[in-house]
Formats: sequence, C-alpha cells, structure tokens
Amino acid sequence: MENSKKKGLLVYDSIYGATAEVAYWIKDLIGKEHYLEVKRQGQVTTVRPFDYIIIGSYTRREKPSKATYAFVQKHLEDLSQKQVCYFLTCGDSDETQLLNIPGSPPHLIAGRNYFTDILKKFSAVKPLVIGGFGGRQVYPALHLMDRLTVDLVGKMAKESGAPWQGRDIWESLIPERVEVFAGEIREKILEKPAKEDVMPYRCYWQSILPAALSDDGMLKQDPGKYTTRLSTPKVYLAGHISEVILKRWILLSLNGPIRRVFSCLSRAEHFLTSIAML
Ligand SMILES: Cc1cc2nc3c(=O)[nH]c(=O)nc-3n(C[C@H](O)[C@H](O)[C@H](O)COP(=O)(O)O)c2cc1C
Repeated sequence: MENSKKKGLLVYDSIYGATAEVAYWIKDLIGKEHYLEVKRQGQVTTVRPFDYIIIGSYTRREKPSKATYAFVQKHLEDLSQKQVCYFLTCGDSDETQLLNIPGSPPHLIAGRNYFTDILKKFSAVKPLVIGGFGGRQVYPALHLMDRLTVDLVGKMAKESGAPWQGRDIWESLIPERVEVFAGEIREKILEKPAKEDVMPYRCYWQSILPAALSDDGMLKQDPGKYTTRLSTPKVYLAGHISEVILKRWILLSLNGPIRRVFSCLSRAEHFLTSIAML
C-alpha cells in the first residue's frame, strides 16, 4: 500500500481538555489529506482496522494515565504488530530535571521521561515517535482532590524557575515539540516531508486568557524553546510523592477530629479531677 494512504487512529485520554486540544492540532499538522481518526479512549473498541496508532495522554504521578496503561494492555497484541506513536501533555516540560527521593536513585522526570515505565512494561510495543510536550492547567477548574494534590505538590516542591503559585492558568507546552512530533510522523510513517508552514495551526493552542484572574497583566509562564535545558536537580521530597501526599492528607483530615478528641479528653480530665476533689 502507498504509505500516504495509510489509515491512522489518534486515541487520547484527557480530563481537562489540554490533551484533546493537542490531538486535533496534531491531526491538522499531519494534514487533512491523510486519513486520521481522532477518538477519545472510551470510543475505541479495536485498533485492527488502522495501519498506525497515535496514543496520547495527560500525566499523573510521573506517568501516562491509568486508562492509557489499560488501553495498551488491552490491545497489546495488535499494537505490537503496528506502527505506534506516543505523546503526552504534562506540567513539567524540562526533561533535565532530576527527582531526588531519599532512599531511591535520582531519576529524570518531565516530558518524554514519563514514558520510561510504560515502555518497560509493554516492551512489545515499539513506538516510532514519542513526544512530551508540556501542557496547560487551569487551577480553578480542577476537581477538589486534584486541587489539593496540586497545592501540596506546589508547597513541597522546591522549584526554581516555574512561576507556579498564584496563577490560575499555568502553561508549559512548547509548541515546537508538537510540530516536530507531527512532522516525524509524516516523515517516518507517511513518507511525506514535515509541513513547513506550521504557524497557522498554533491557533489550536493560542489563548489570551490572563494567567491570574486577580491581575489581568500577569503573563503566563513562557515555555521556552525545544532545546531549553535548565539542568537543575530541582525537586527534593522527603519520601515517595504519593506517601508524602497521603500522610499530609491524613494529617489534614485528622487534624480537626484529633483536636476534638483531645479537647474532650481534657474536659473529661477536668470533670474527673473536680469529682475527685469533692
Ligand atoms: C492531580 C494532578 C497531578 C499531575 N501530575 C503531574 C505529574 O506528575 N507530572 C507532570 O508533569 N504533570 C502533572 N500534572 C499536569 C497535567 O498532566 C497537565 O496539566 C495536563 O496537560 C492535563 O491534561 P488534560 O487537560 O488533558 O487533562 C498533574 C495534574 C494534576 C491535576
């Protein structure tokens, strides 16, 4: 079959919409002349009719979403025989960041580093192109538990650079990475050159919303260029991130009840002492 006639499927998982926006951006960069279906994960029952599959996800706890793992697991046999590409959106796009957790070896995080685990786990799938783009987070729209997690991580992470706190919209996506990703798919799978005039397609990501609702003039985080390397071992946490968050939550949620128990005990003690004094 002529390569440019290949049938593609882009399947994505998105909670708040950033990954969905990127999915349609990639479709346009690949070009409407090429067959590419864009579907949410829940809409896909089989990958068999397609020649190549692009799998996109948001990031949670340094990995693609659980549903993405489940999707790859479910279609593993088919995916291992097809041309596959992976991409994700994420908060951290600086791929030189080291996460230092006492007791385990420091490891690189952010962007494409978040694929380390899924690539190892499903080594039968050999993606031709992978992309870790950065992403968008609209703080007031987060569900309560997500907001709590983001608050806690924000407080615990000793980050230089990213002006995170106080912003309603946090952006870290590097547009060139999306363009390079789609360009590589055109070259490696469809055997067409990457599109040269990519600027019009940035409309999928453009936004003039202010970063902080309380200050219209506040600029969003400047994502920098594809080659930006900060090389700072930025994040230090005293324990595994999920344990730290869990402990904090337990402490926060128990804070009220524990204080009430102590105050009851202390009132009971007063009461018993006053009876004993009678
Ligand atoms: C609770 C929570 C946990 C997150 N964990 C990570 C993470 O470990 N690493 C990272 O770079 N980004 C992380 N992010 C950022 C999201 O992956 C990012 O904003 C993404 O673009 C959201 O995609 P969506 O709008 O398609 O859901 C997290 C966001 C939330 C709300």
